[in-house]
Amino acid sequence: MQDDLVYQPEKYWDRLWAPGGHAAIVTTVDEAGRVNAAAYATAVRIVHNPVQIAFTTSQTGHTGNNLKATGQFVVNLPPFDREILEKVRIVGLPFAQGVNELEKAGLTEVPSTTVKPPRILECTRHFECEVVWTKDWLYRTMVVGSVLAASVHKTLVDAKGYIIWDKVKPVAFCGAPYVNQFVGTTEPMAVGMPYDGPEADAGEKSTRSYFEDM
Ligand SMILES: Cc1cc2nc3c(=O)[nH]c(=O)nc-3n(C[C@H](O)[C@H](O)[C@H](O)COP(=O)(O)O)c2cc1C
Repeated sequence: MQDDLVYQPEKYWDRLWAPGGHAAIVTTVDEAGRVNAAAYATAVRIVHNPVQIAFTTSQTGHTGNNLKATGQFVVNLPPFDREILEKVRIVGLPFAQGVNELEKAGLTEVPSTTVKPPRILECTRHFECEVVWTKDWLYRTMVVGSVLAASVHKTLVDAKGYIIWDKVKPVAFCGAPYVNQFVGTTEPMAVGMPYDGPEADAGEKSTRSYFEDM
């Protein structure tokens, strides 16, 4: 059995962890109010309640500089559609400071209600965030933000706020070594619990009571 497993050399560890996180466009503004947008695949919801989002960025990039200066950012999630994902790739290009990548990519700005960075119309879900903390380490900056407001195209969720999977079409980026590859999900898979000890019941009950129709 062990013979079926193969250790990978360190140079392949990053590509082994594929896909990365949900593809996202993070918008920020600089101190002069100029809009910046960049592509991210490291954004993850790390706390359920209150919802907190973390991602990592470069220590020299505009996104990190802007959010450290202003304390605000918006995470915009695109669907698994070729046209918008091409634009995600464009905003990931190294444009000069002060260039509005949304204009370069032909994306539509929509004002946010709680923060200065705009939302993006072509992205169907938006999380307006205030920075809680940042930490510089290695050559990266880790950012944690608290969500102040979240919006969605109104036909894409049900009355209880659950996403309609085949309309939302969540999409993950495979990772930098894969360059241009994304994977999409159009339906979730319900998975049973083939374990009948007391923990199974207790676990399900506590999850349900915590999240049921909050
Ligand atoms: C799909 C995609 C995902 C990306 N994910 C990340 C990421 O998670 N972290 C990161 O630092 N850069 C990531 N990048 C690269 C940045 O988008 C790129 O460096 C960008 O120029 C940064 O812009 P800024 O200087 O305006 O912040 C990604 C690029 C693409 C196309």
